[in-house]
Amino acid sequence: MLYWLIQTLADHPALACAEPPEGLLSSAEEARFRTLTREKRRRDWLLGRWTAKHLAAFYLEQVIGRRPALSDIAILADPDGAPRLQSQNGYASLVDRLTISISHSRDHAFCALIAAPGYAPGADIEHVEPRTPGFVTDFFTDAEIARLHHAPPSAQPLLTTVIWSAKEAALKALRRGLTVDTRQIVCLPGEPTADGWAPLIVRCHPELNAAVHHGWWRQMGEFVLTLAVGPSINAAGSMVEARRIGDGVSP
Ligand SMILES: CC(C)(COP(=O)(O)OP(=O)(O)OC[C@H]1O[C@@H](n2cnc3c(N)ncnc32)[C@H](O)[C@@H]1OP(=O)(O)O)[C@@H](O)C(=O)NCCC(=O)NCCS
Repeated sequence: MLYWLIQTLADHPALACAEPPEGLLSSAEEARFRTLTREKRRRDWLLGRWTAKHLAAFYLEQVIGRRPALSDIAILADPDGAPRLQSQNGYASLVDRLTISISHSRDHAFCALIAAPGYAPGADIEHVEPRTPGFVTDFFTDAEIARLHHAPPSAQPLLTTVIWSAKEAALKALRRGLTVDTRQIVCLPGEPTADGWAPLIVRCHPELNAAVHHGWWRQMGEFVLTLAVGPSINAAGSMVEARRIGDGVSP
């Protein structure tokens, strides 16, 4: 099962002060937070933690019938920067089976969680905006450029953003990030579908020695959201919407 959640700074205005609210962080997270010097980075990091912890708490509530405190869930980073969930207070065995992914853009945080050992999500949020022709030729494959050329000019900013975001999501699912050439991943967005999530074909170059079997994308206001899963889970039918943007309900 793949869960996702998007939150904004407007959902928790206190985070805009770039200081952690009481009860959000564990002591290890607090220590990590104190190493962050730039205010924007501190806000993004806090919003990402707050969102990912709510998503994990939502999942645990579904499974065990009670919602853990956010401070019972910690999100630390592996050496490659990928987020890792940890917990104490009786939740550890459940939390150890969870993998998460975090993305930030313009005061929004988008997180995905998978509750199946061996599978990892990649989540990315990007603001829809035009990119230069040089950006496309530098980072996109021939197949992606051909896909763009088949779209009308008015659709180019959206399509370019989806392809770029999908590459980031896929490379997060594979835990490579932008350490590899983005042309080693081919991302071809399908047409939008009625429930909002459209399929995404993701192919990896053999040199990557990896596979991303599932991907989805959707537009949400000015943003594009993409999800990727490696190596495999049940597809779109198993997706759960924990919360939509801007519905104004405290999770
Ligand atoms: C992963 C990466 C593509 C993110 O791109 P971005 O557009 O700048 O940022 P996003 O907001 O979409 O994503 C950032 C999140 O990606 C996650 N992330 C970072 N490295 C990751 C990796 N190797 N694998 C999976 N997820 C990763 C983190 O959760 C991070 O947020 P956080 O630091 O607040 O927890 C980019 O950071 C990257 O390529 N990093 C290369 C690896 C690297 O330099 N690691 C640093 C070692 S400490």
